[in-house]
Amino acid sequence: MYKEIAHDATNRRNPLFQIGTILFFLSLRREEKHLSHCLKEKIRGFHIMAENNRAQKVGLVGTGFVGSSFAYALMQRGIASELVLIDANAEKAVGEMMDLNHGLSFTKPMKITAGNYSDLNGAKVVVVTAGASQKPGESRLDLLARNAAIFRSIIPEIVRNNPGGIILITTNPVDILTYISLKESGLSPAQVIGSGTILDTSRFRFLLGQFYEVDTRSVHSFIVGEHGDSEIPLWSMANIGGVRLQEFAPLKNKQYDQQEMNKLFVSVRDAAYEIIKRKGASYYAIGLGLLSIVESILGNYRSVLSISTLMTGQYGVNDICLSLPSIVGENGVEEILTLPMNEEEQEGFRVSANKLKSTLNNLKS
Ligand SMILES: NC(=O)c1ccc[n+]([C@@H]2O[C@H](COP(=O)([O-])OP(=O)(O)OC[C@H]3O[C@@H](n4cnc5c(N)ncnc54)[C@H](O)[C@@H]3O)[C@@H](O)[C@H]2O)c1
Repeated sequence: MYKEIAHDATNRRNPLFQIGTILFFLSLRREEKHLSHCLKEKIRGFHIMAENNRAQKVGLVGTGFVGSSFAYALMQRGIASELVLIDANAEKAVGEMMDLNHGLSFTKPMKITAGNYSDLNGAKVVVVTAGASQKPGESRLDLLARNAAIFRSIIPEIVRNNPGGIILITTNPVDILTYISLKESGLSPAQVIGSGTILDTSRFRFLLGQFYEVDTRSVHSFIVGEHGDSEIPLWSMANIGGVRLQEFAPLKNKQYDQQEMNKLFVSVRDAAYEIIKRKGASYYAIGLGLLSIVESILGNYRSVLSISTLMTGQYGVNDICLSLPSIVGENGVEEILTLPMNEEEQEGFRVSANKLKSTLNNLKS
């Protein structure tokens, strides 16, 4: 309308034209104000992000294979401003610090130091991968007893120096050590997380992706329960791009065969044995798994991740830590999801919980 009026020179003296012009410029001013408001909001957003990034301190206790893989992944992602490395073998922590620092010209700026527990103050998350390794002839329960003792000394030190932070446990058996850490820490269950089946779920998604020839990231399902032999695959929810496997298989000229799928799950469950047999330890994938949990906490992403946390009646399970898909955000475990698992899966979950409880009881006795 304004364009048409402007083209008519005779209209310039017309009062209607003059009012129209005033309205036009007023609306432009409003637009401009709105735009500058949006711009200000955006700039404020960037400031907050930068502020958050500056304050994103992470601690790491245990700089062995798993710890250093996590540290390496973290520095490349550029989401933390500071990383403090702690190890009973102080020289090992210093060596890792030097090696990582020498890569800083290739990544975003970050402060990486080797220190002690008092340096953890202000950390949003402290990742614990410290632990003893199995001695020849030592039983799993004896190893657990040694690691439990280590945790009874580490956890109070972490909490004393950094009471407001979240603790992320990885050391095996991760579910039992998460439970012990929770009890030792006196923190809320939301603040003490075990990496649980984050790795198993990733292995599951990868192998299904390979089988159906699709991107791992398009495969969705979870492994729940213990991080170990009694873990359970959630077949009832497995899907690729939202399509259940039973319906997806024919799209790839395959026939869905549950027995074939069960074999695939065995490869997931036994992956650690296969890797350890060949290279002595597994660490890259869990390093990235830890990164995904830490990233969700630092960025308050509220990602749904299968992590180990205290059960409070889910599927009839109480007072033990094991994995269910949970929302992870700035407060740690924001919510445990009770998805519609079928009867068999729910029963498997209870069996897994009972197995962990009996291990815990054996440890106490
Ligand atoms: N949850 C998972 O999915 C998963 C996957 C892989 C490995 N893990 C577990 O992670 C743990 C670490 O594995 P790794 O391969 O890095 O072992 P590692 O032996 O390479 O590293 C362990 C580190 O802990 C340190 N340490 C021992 N006692 C300590 C203490 N009291 N305080 C501080 N540091 C201490 C050791 O000096 C060593 O550097 C193991 O328990 C392993 O089973 C878990």
